Amino acid sequence: MSNTSLNKSKAAKNDEYYTRLEDIEKELVYYSPYLKGKKVYCNCDSETSMFWTYLTTNYDSLGLKGLTATHYDPKGTYRLDFINGQTVKTAVSGDGSYNSPTSLAILKEADIVITNPPFSKFRDYIDTIKDKDFIVIGCINAVTYNNIFPMFKAGQIRLGHTTLRYYVIPDGTVKDLGSTSWFTTLPVSRQELVLTATYNPTDYPTYSNYPAINVNKVKDIPSDYNGLMGVPVNFLTKHCSSQFRIVDRLNNPKLGEKTIYKRVIIERI
Ligand SMILES: C[S@@+](CC[C@H](N)C(=O)[O-])C[C@H]1O[C@@H](n2cnc3c(N)ncnc32)[C@H](O)[C@@H]1O
Repeated sequence: MSNTSLNKSKAAKNDEYYTRLEDIEKELVYYSPYLKGKKVYCNCDSETSMFWTYLTTNYDSLGLKGLTATHYDPKGTYRLDFINGQTVKTAVSGDGSYNSPTSLAILKEADIVITNPPFSKFRDYIDTIKDKDFIVIGCINAVTYNNIFPMFKAGQIRLGHTTLRYYVIPDGTVKDLGSTSWFTTLPVSRQELVLTATYNPTDYPTYSNYPAINVNKVKDIPSDYNGLMGVPVNFLTKHCSSQFRIVDRLNNPKLGEKTIYKRVIIERI
């Protein structure tokens, strides 16, 4: 998501951006080997969600063992279960929030969470589901959040195969939100980046507040530099774990007196 759109979304707490079926298809196809025999929980999804459509349509071919969805509605809500090829809708107590007692009880029984959660609550949302496997959508900048970055560094989570930018809004039109990504605990295999640039101290200055060189674009990562490098956050959409180690993140990198946009610190393996 573009920073402007995301910031507006957070400020207005506007979380009504619905995921398109084609974007779900493009990403979830990669995970079919890992979903077999699993109980899937979509904890931010009503029956109109394309996640529900995708997972009920592909329930048998994916070999799922269970599928449940709940969604937030303070006026009263329900759970959906997919049983014998049918969607069964049952009223539940509470508001259906992902952290409500009802949702937490379903989460406990589930193997994996798959959804697009509210962008404005992403930090708390990840804290809630982090003991489970998950495939969820978030803003790429969320990789630097205090509770999320350590999971990237430890190799517990990674960005998915595709990025998304178009979402359906409540009036039915499609809105371009810039770049968002899938965050997952499941394996994502990527080719190593082919690097053609070479290091020189003029184009790759060292930060004044951190012992790493600055790289402005992923394609400009020097092939011959073995020290610490600060790269744009979108590097993680291309990160191959056999090529680079994720070392740190820098929220306010400085070149001389000038503060530039946040960076992820990496080094070659
Ligand atoms: C980005 S939208 C995505 C909706 C749906 N998962 C999809 O992909 O189309 C996030 C949804 O989470 C809902 N939501 C907001 N707060 C929530 C909460 N505490 N628990 C669960 N869902 C919540 C919003 O109303 C919104 O419909």
